Amino acid sequence: MARKLRVGLIGAGGIAQSHMQGWEENEHTEVVAICDIKRQAREDTAKRWGVAKNALFDDYEKMLEKVELDIVDVCTPNAYHKAAAVAGFQAGCHVLVEKPVATSADECREMINAGKKAKRLLMVAQVLRFNREGQTLRRWVDAGLVGDIYWGQCTLLRPRGVPAWGTFIDAKESAGGPCYDLGVHILDMALYLMDFPEPVSVSAATYLELANKPSLMKHDPAKYTVPEDMAAGFIRFANGATLSLQTSWALNVTEAAAKMNVVVCGTEGGLQYSPPTLVREENGMLINATPQVPLDVPDSGFVAEIDAFVEAILQGKPSPVPGEQALITQRILDGIYASGKAGKEVEV
Ligand SMILES: NC(=O)c1ccc[n+]([C@@H]2O[C@H](COP(=O)([O-])OP(=O)(O)OC[C@H]3O[C@@H](n4cnc5c(N)ncnc54)[C@H](O)[C@@H]3O)[C@@H](O)[C@H]2O)c1
Repeated sequence: MARKLRVGLIGAGGIAQSHMQGWEENEHTEVVAICDIKRQAREDTAKRWGVAKNALFDDYEKMLEKVELDIVDVCTPNAYHKAAAVAGFQAGCHVLVEKPVATSADECREMINAGKKAKRLLMVAQVLRFNREGQTLRRWVDAGLVGDIYWGQCTLLRPRGVPAWGTFIDAKESAGGPCYDLGVHILDMALYLMDFPEPVSVSAATYLELANKPSLMKHDPAKYTVPEDMAAGFIRFANGATLSLQTSWALNVTEAAAKMNVVVCGTEGGLQYSPPTLVREENGMLINATPQVPLDVPDSGFVAEIDAFVEAILQGKPSPVPGEQALITQRILDGIYASGKAGKEVEV
C-alpha cells in the first residue's frame, strides 16, 4: 500500500476532535503533527488520538517548516482561518478548513488564489452535505425529481443558545455571531441543493436584543462583542430564484418554530431537510416521500467529509466543497451584515 497522507492539525479544540476521528478512521491518512497555542489543548488531543509528544507545536509556521505534511486541517476560530490556510498552501499542502471559510469574501478570495498557485485542493468543512439527510436530498436533485429550484427557506433558530464555551461570542476571534455559527450551515445546504446560483442582492436585518440580558443563558454578557444574536435575510439570485434565512442564538420563539430546517421548492418537486422528504405530484395527489431504508452512509458527517476529501486528493478529483462555492456563501453572509447595518437592500 502507498504511504499514508500525512496530516497536520492546526487548532486542537472542540471540533478538532470530530476531525481527528475522521482522520483516524480513514485508512489513507495519519495525523503526524498538532499545533495549538494552548498547551493543554495540544497535549490532551495528542494523548487522546495517539500523536507523538515530540510532534506538538505552538506555532503553525514552525510545524510547517519542521514536519513534511500532505494535508493541513484548520480548526482554529474563524479569524485565523485565512492565514493558517494560506500558510498551509505555501507549504505545498491540501487544506481542509472549518466553516465559515473566513471572515470576509476578500479573505476567501485570497485562500482560493493561494490554493490555485500551490495546485492544491481547498475544502470547506460544510458537514451537513455529508450526513444522511444532505446526501438523500442531493440524490433527489441529481435524479431530476425537483426540477428548477426557484424558492427556498432555511431556518435554524435557538430560543436560548448563546455559546458560553469557546470564542464564539468574541468578535476578534469569531467576527460574527449566529450567522457564522449556524446560518452558514443552512445557507450552504440550500445553495448546494440549488446548485450555487449567482447571488445578486441581500436584504437583511440583524438584531442584538437578548444576548445582553442573559437570563436562561450562561455566557458573560460583557464578553459578547459579535454584532448580532438574530438575523433574518432575503437573497435574490441572477436566475430569478430567492431564498430566505433566519438564524438566532436567542429569540423568544417556541422550540417547534425554531426547529432547524431547509426547504427548497422547484418546478417538479420540493425538498425538506428534516426529516428528509420529497414532495411531488403523483396520480393527482401531492405526495410526501421519506426513505424507508436510510441511505448507507457513515453515521458521522465528519467521517464522511474527510473520506470525500481524501478520495478527491487521491483520485485527482475536484474539491468536494470548493472555495468558489464558499465564496458565494461568504458574499451572502457579508451582504447580511452590510444590509443589516445599512438598513436596506445591498448588492453582493
Ligand atoms: N462543523 C461544525 O459543526 C462546527 C462546530 C463547532 C465549531 N466549528 C468551527 O470550528 C472552528 C473552531 O471551533 P471550536 O468550537 O473547535 O473552537 P475551540 O475554541 O474549541 O478550538 C479552537 C482551538 O484553536 C486554538 N487556536 C487559536 N488560535 C490558534 C492559532 N493561531 N494557532 C493554533 N491554534 C490556535 C485554540 O487555542 C483552541 O484550542 C470555528 O471556525 C467554528 O466555526 C464547526
